[in-house]
Amino acid sequence: MKKPTPEERLIVALDVPTAKDAQKWIKKLSPVVKRFKVGMELFTAEGPQTVTAINTAGARVFLDLKFFDIPNTMAGALRSAATLKPFLVNVHALAGPAALARCAQEMKKLKTPPKLLAVTVLTSFSEQELKRIGLGGVDATVTKLCGMALKAGLDGVVASPREAALLRKKFGNDFLIVTPGVRPAWADANDQKRITTPYDAIRNGADYIVVGRPVLDAPDPRETARRIIDEIKEACAWKKKAGRI
Ligand code: C5P
Repeated sequence: MKKPTPEERLIVALDVPTAKDAQKWIKKLSPVVKRFKVGMELFTAEGPQTVTAINTAGARVFLDLKFFDIPNTMAGALRSAATLKPFLVNVHALAGPAALARCAQEMKKLKTPPKLLAVTVLTSFSEQELKRIGLGGVDATVTKLCGMALKAGLDGVVASPREAALLRKKFGNDFLIVTPGVRPAWADANDQKRITTPYDAIRNGADYIVVGRPVLDAPDPRETARRIIDEIKEACAWKKKAGRI
């Protein structure tokens, strides 16, 4: 698998309500940011045009719609998503092994499919909250769901940067880890519970980090993105020195 450049490893979450807002951010950030995430808020309001606008600006899209349904419906949703040419798409691992396997098969039929990720445990979950819905500890659940997704033929997982090292140790390097729940040392945690800095996320084994509010709410968003990319570069340099790249 070709490794992304440090610039490509930062995915900025465009959690905004309108295409007009999105366009403003793409224009402002795309000289520095090469990957954007389109999620439920923007996609529900404005649909495919938001993905097209990012592709047209020369950047790539992580289409974060977290599909969770019966296998046939998930496969159909992914086929539709793939026509928009995102580089990453995702489904919920909790949809189960049969649905995951069907989704992976569906993507393999395409000539240039996006990479397919399974969301393990959302980064806004704390240990206590996860127990409250009847699941075990975070590490055990993330490990179990990751193993299930890889066995089903998916390309990787979405997990918190705190679990990335554990997943690398258990499952090796030949799959993608994408981590939201990333907060530079100077930023607010907001509603995210299982967080690390960009430097630690990459050092722990994340391929891509997703950052939303710390960039969009910053006084100088473009400079903030640049600072995050500098942290990613430092972490990549550390990994190279340690022979982990
Ligand atoms: O603003 P913030 O950096 O917290 O944004 C994180 C983004 O990553 C949000 O768009 C959220 O939907 C997404 N995400 C997440 N946890 C996951 C998967 C996606 O926070 N497990």
